[in-house]
Amino acid sequence: MAQEKFNGIQACVFDAYGTLLDVHAPVASLSGEIGPNADAVSKLWRDKQLQYTWLRSLMGAHAPFWEVTGEALDYALSFHGIDNPDLRKRLMDLYFELDAYDDARDCLSALKEAGLKTGILSNGNPEMLDGAVTSASLTAVLDEVMSIEDVGIYKPDNRVYQMAVERMGVAGPANICFVSANTWDAQAGSHFGFQVARINRFGLPDDNMPGKPDALLDSLRELPAMVS
Ligand code: LAC
Repeated sequence: MAQEKFNGIQACVFDAYGTLLDVHAPVASLSGEIGPNADAVSKLWRDKQLQYTWLRSLMGAHAPFWEVTGEALDYALSFHGIDNPDLRKRLMDLYFELDAYDDARDCLSALKEAGLKTGILSNGNPEMLDGAVTSASLTAVLDEVMSIEDVGIYKPDNRVYQMAVERMGVAGPANICFVSANTWDAQAGSHFGFQVARINRFGLPDDNMPGKPDALLDSLRELPAMVS
């Protein structure tokens, strides 16, 4: 459900995990082995991963996203009574080489053809972003891959969003269309001053927090016509 056309967009900047990259694919691909709780394991893994980023930022105890991702997986497996180091290793290996959603690849290609700048702005540390961007074959359609490691604090700290303004070389935040599947990330980006499209991958309403996306997309294929 595309809602409107954006104006003055010079660059499109995407969240990575959950927006371009399918974070539930690792557990889905081993669900037969994990059993009936597989979906719950994947959801708890993701929820704890995000919670730990926010908690570590507030505590002043930063650790790279790869480490946080492993800590969150350990919690999810333990919560569900799964003690299997080999399975844990295979899930992390799969997370390092996540594939892109089909609409993400199509969207990025169309944006580059339209002459727009494209980038990723992610919690991921550079090594894991490089692993996923390479395995998902997105290198050629991205101008910038920006990691919060350059700022040293996780989203939604405004310094992270400001980095995108500087690195994309645009006049200001309103010249960026920021795209995220995470409600909190989309809303914080809007509150910061980006024009924002939320891709509604998970059928969620907006969170009750400041900021509101300008558009809610069913598919990233809707985006190129809205920004060019
Ligand atoms: C990211 C997380 C929030 O890529 O998904 O930044």
